Amino acid sequence: MPSHQPNPSRYESMDYRRCGRSGLKLPAVSLGLWHNFGGVDTLENARAIVRTAFDLGITHFDLANNYGPPPGSAEETFGTLLRTDLKAHRDELIISSKAGHAMWPGPYGDWGSRKYLVASLDQSLQRMGLDYVDIFYHHRPDPETPLEETMAALAHIVQSGRALYVGLSNYPADLTHRAATLLREMRTPCVIHQPRYNMLDRWIEKDLLSTLRDDGVGCIAYSPLAQGLLTDRYLGGHVPAGSRAAGAVGFLKAEHITPERVQLANVLNEIAASRGQKLVQLALAWVLRHSEMTSVLIGASRESQVRDAVGALDRLSFEVDEMQAIERLLEIAGRS
Ligand SMILES: NC(=O)c1ccc[n+]([C@@H]2O[C@H](COP(=O)([O-])OP(=O)(O)OC[C@H]3O[C@@H](n4cnc5c(N)ncnc54)[C@H](OP(=O)(O)O)[C@@H]3O)[C@@H](O)[C@H]2O)c1
Repeated sequence: MPSHQPNPSRYESMDYRRCGRSGLKLPAVSLGLWHNFGGVDTLENARAIVRTAFDLGITHFDLANNYGPPPGSAEETFGTLLRTDLKAHRDELIISSKAGHAMWPGPYGDWGSRKYLVASLDQSLQRMGLDYVDIFYHHRPDPETPLEETMAALAHIVQSGRALYVGLSNYPADLTHRAATLLREMRTPCVIHQPRYNMLDRWIEKDLLSTLRDDGVGCIAYSPLAQGLLTDRYLGGHVPAGSRAAGAVGFLKAEHITPERVQLANVLNEIAASRGQKLVQLALAWVLRHSEMTSVLIGASRESQVRDAVGALDRLSFEVDEMQAIERLLEIAGRS
């Protein structure tokens, strides 16, 4: 398979946004490899999705030690694609990985000890065939390991050359501030936080976004489409074959496609249509409306979904009445 010849105009239309007060910029749309890149998936489809993304100016690819299935296999797939397609473009890519969930048996394969984080990243680098990742995240807070140890491990990871930057994922606001303060003292600033955020899960609006602004940390929202609930996938009220909710793996199940959610998605879809957008594009523009939002981290099971997502950038602004209508709908949905 020849190396990919990327679209020469790929940087012309993508919007690149700064991560907090760092020097790093990310594309407004980034691609995550949680689903559809495992050992159980088709390499050719994975290749098509990654090529399409890079051709559209998506420079940021997000992984974690446990993505697959089986765990680790998404990093192996990405390593293969790097070698076959993107070898010449390593310096144009921001590749992230994470550790924090169960990865191997015994007391050193989970959570937030220095032992686990360093060993896990070494394994990730090996699977991807990389000397370093651009961003390494602690995937979730560890209630038992001292925060100082976890943050010192992240600082060590940067100082040892295994990562260029560090980030936090799924940390609540107060812990984020404490962690960011420690990392600053260790001269390894936290550049980015990765929380879940979408129209159906707005927890970050309470105090995380303002904390990130004050601490100069960027924000990349994962599952911005609520795993497909905020797309046209389920508008008909059933679970189509081949959709994530129909799959045997993952957290989105058929019972999550409730009549209330289907109804909400249909009304939002009408608002999207009145703006000349797909529902996907409305949902992504809505996440990107925050000035603290560096990027939306999408998933895709086919290349057309990446195109749909990048199409959101054609219309990011909202009229006051559109925003009020969306707010009313989400408030009602949040109460039911
Ligand atoms: N830090 C963390 O704890 C954490 C947790 C979860 C995810 N993440 C990161 O966030 C990334 C994205 O998460 P996610 O996959 O849940 O994101 P998402 O963008 O909310 O959902 C992606 C899924 O929605 C469906 N979809 C997307 N575009 C569509 C379109 N145009 N039309 C119809 N369906 C469409 C596809 O599912 P189907 O086609 O399969 O139905 C696709 O796989 C992950 O890959 C990972 O990198 C991080």
